Amino acid sequence: MGLIRFLRGAKLLGQTTEIPGKSLVEHAYAANVDIPTNCTSGNCGSCMVTLLSGDVSIPEPLTPGLDEEIVEEGARLGCIGIPSGDVDIDILPPL
Ligand code: FES
Repeated sequence: MGLIRFLRGAKLLGQTTEIPGKSLVEHAYAANVDIPTNCTSGNCGSCMVTLLSGDVSIPEPLTPGLDEEIVEEGARLGCIGIPSGDVDIDILPPL
């Protein structure tokens, strides 16, 4: 089972074990970390975080909250991104 860690810069804000099938926002809640949300459906980008390492699902096709370029920079959407395995997340967006 993976370990999901939430950081801001070098500071570890919280961590939780992987909850299969649950979104990053739900993992953050379990870790006592707040990721802001608005639409909760991949459209607004409010919940955008940066993937530092590991694997978080990307919607296919991309939802309006993401584009190819920002995904390349590590952007993932907390409300719909599902982590698997060991994952490190910076809770701020990449740009
Ligand atoms: S809360 Fe709107 S894209 Fe995630």
